[in-house]
Amino acid sequence: MEALGARANFSLTASDIDSKVLATAARGVYRLDGMKGIDAGRMQRFFLRGKGSNEGMAKIKPELSQFIEFLIVNLIHDDWPFKEPFDVVFCRNVMIYFDAPTQRKVLERIHRVMKPGALLFVGHAENFSDSRDLFVLKGKTVYERR
Ligand SMILES: C[S@@+](CC[C@H](N)C(=O)[O-])C[C@H]1O[C@@H](n2cnc3c(N)ncnc32)[C@H](O)[C@@H]1O
Repeated sequence: MEALGARANFSLTASDIDSKVLATAARGVYRLDGMKGIDAGRMQRFFLRGKGSNEGMAKIKPELSQFIEFLIVNLIHDDWPFKEPFDVVFCRNVMIYFDAPTQRKVLERIHRVMKPGALLFVGHAENFSDSRDLFVLKGKTVYERR
């Protein structure tokens, strides 16, 4: 939103295999003591501070959450529901659970749902340089889709 300014018009799809994880994410409620890295301006613009029994918590405002949809997706099944190709994908700390052939299949699927030149952000312990036919390493944990 900050990068796009007043013209902000984007959609963000958040997915997981676990419906409980998605429900927690969709609530958008966070403990304040885990939000110390967020500056005061952003806190005020994007979050509501809890009062009374919600003291010590903050909830994301609809002005930001309206752009997010939450979908159950099993990355290792080939029936992904995504419609539009993505400009950016964050797939962090999930592939570590998969063996190498499964990682390759998932990477091929991720490649298919991205625009050429789109960016893939992965976790710090993840390395997909074996799939350089699909992605070019741009930074420590950032790949560009070919
Ligand atoms: C270690 S957490 C990482 C969460 C987040 N990406 C992060 O970096 O903080 C791993 C997540 O992957 C999800 N997951 C595990 N297997 C999956 C699969 N086959 N398809 C989709 N999500 C999966 C789990 O439910 C869990 O929420």
